[in-house]
Amino acid sequence: DNSYQEAAAQAKLRRFPLKLVKGVPLMEPIADGWDIVENFQAFPDDLIISTYPKAGTTWVQEIVDLIYNDGDAVKCQRAPTFVRIPFLEIISPPPLPSGVEMLGKMPRPRIIKTHLPFHLVPRSIWENKCKVIYVARNAKDNTVSYYHFDRMNKTQPDPGTWDQYITKFIKGEVAWGPWSDHVKGYWAEKNNHQILYLFYEDLKENPRQQTVKILDFLERVLPKDIIDKIVELTSFSSMKNNPMTNYTFFPKNLFDHSVSPFMRKGEVGDWQNHFSEQQRQLFDRAYARWMDGVDIPFRDLL
Ligand code: A3P
Repeated sequence: DNSYQEAAAQAKLRRFPLKLVKGVPLMEPIADGWDIVENFQAFPDDLIISTYPKAGTTWVQEIVDLIYNDGDAVKCQRAPTFVRIPFLEIISPPPLPSGVEMLGKMPRPRIIKTHLPFHLVPRSIWENKCKVIYVARNAKDNTVSYYHFDRMNKTQPDPGTWDQYITKFIKGEVAWGPWSDHVKGYWAEKNNHQILYLFYEDLKENPRQQTVKILDFLERVLPKDIIDKIVELTSFSSMKNNPMTNYTFFPKNLFDHSVSPFMRKGEVGDWQNHFSEQQRQLFDRAYARWMDGVDIPFRDLL
């Protein structure tokens, strides 16, 4: 099915400016079509995977889809990630379908991706008591990953130089707004809703344990060997080589992998290869302000 690719080829795509929605900068088409997102109707069996961009969304999407399909790799190859698990708030120029439109055509139970900060999540999701898996990633690696992504994603604002980007990221002048509000927003609400709060670094350190945690949260049981298989299928190298997870099926006018591949490095601590001492100090000062009195257990890496 090439319909998504064909639609993208026809759509008038460009680096869209950001526009505020309730104080949060979002890509212009999303802001302009916001009522569609806000009025999204959830079902109680919807599962939401929520992250700040580049925190490990695609990784957890694959783990969950494999869980839903009992570890059947063939079934999970039925379509690329972005078709199997629609992106709730995405609205692009026609004829590209909006996330809400794609979700309307999906059989239940649906798995849904979002990057919306807590306070922008459509109310219907909470009214239906949907389960939410949230993934947070340490701030500096998240910044690095987002910088490279904004270089290759041809619809988000140009990131400028790395030095310029750090300043924009600290100010929260990037798509989906400040990292700090995002991770803190879900953390503060996690006990008021069915929210499983995960960390990218934990997934790297012990993917099996974190996969079991997801299984428990979903109230599902799988045999040991199937869990092992899921862990193997969702390793960085497996996902980098899997055309259904590595975004190489994504339209070329949206993602330019020759600039930076979507499956870039998949490591913890890559920030050390990017931040100068001065940049680190600037970032650490901002980080201290954001996290003052906050008890989210990020590792000392930040
Ligand atoms: P890097 O740019 O640091 O490599 P998202 O899916 O939220 O857009 O996040 C993308 C980031 O997660 C990228 O980080 C990507 O390489 C990494 N990633 C994707 N799949 C992964 C996996 N299976 N294991 C580890 N990291 C993964």
